[in-house]
Amino acid sequence: MPKISDPWDHHDWDSRKYVSQWADRQDLREADREKTFRLMAKILPYDKEARINVLDLGAGYGALAQFLLNYFSNGVVVCQDGSEEMAKLGRKRMKCLKGRFKYVLCDFSKQGWSRKIKGPFEAVVSSIAIHNVRSPDIIRAIYCETFSLVKIGGCFLNFDRMTPSLKIQMNWLREAGFEDVKCFWDGGRRALLGGFKK
Ligand SMILES: C[S@@+](CC[C@H](N)C(=O)[O-])C[C@H]1O[C@@H](n2cnc3c(N)ncnc32)[C@H](O)[C@@H]1O
Repeated sequence: MPKISDPWDHHDWDSRKYVSQWADRQDLREADREKTFRLMAKILPYDKEARINVLDLGAGYGALAQFLLNYFSNGVVVCQDGSEEMAKLGRKRMKCLKGRFKYVLCDFSKQGWSRKIKGPFEAVVSSIAIHNVRSPDIIRAIYCETFSLVKIGGCFLNFDRMTPSLKIQMNWLREAGFEDVKCFWDGGRRALLGGFKK
């Protein structure tokens, strides 16, 4: 994955040491995120017992995936990520959910990434991942490719840093083909937005 040197937020997702330190820091904040993950689970238009197939974009070690697997007792999740180190950590941390998730390694900043993932999915979700690509054009392109991975009747929810603005990103979701595009939670710097495929 491209390494971007930016003093406010430098990431090195390919480094085992960086990933392990990031995960340790993130563990201290997991309780705060649970509220947002629960809201995401409730927005998904499926019963808790539904046999849904979910895609988590930039899944990391699977914090959101794990939450959804516990919430939807018959659900399965494909965890997409560009970092082998994150996938290794995720497989370890989700050992008790073996058989209900798998990792697909690919870089969503590269056009055509969605062809590496066998869909479609009842839901595509993402948590603080897509902003990592930085380029507005690439975020917009990711929304377009994501649309092709969603089943009719399904939805896409993205909890992320809103750069560019929430309003712009909501328009990109509409342009991609999503309907009933909404902001479900707005925390200023971060927001939860999404849309449905009809
Ligand atoms: C801030 S972490 C969030 C991980 C997880 N979604 C969570 O909420 O804990 C960002 C994740 O996005 C992944 N990522 C960053 N750029 C990516 C890219 N171009 N393609 C695929 N994954 C990427 C990183 O490897 C990392 O796992």
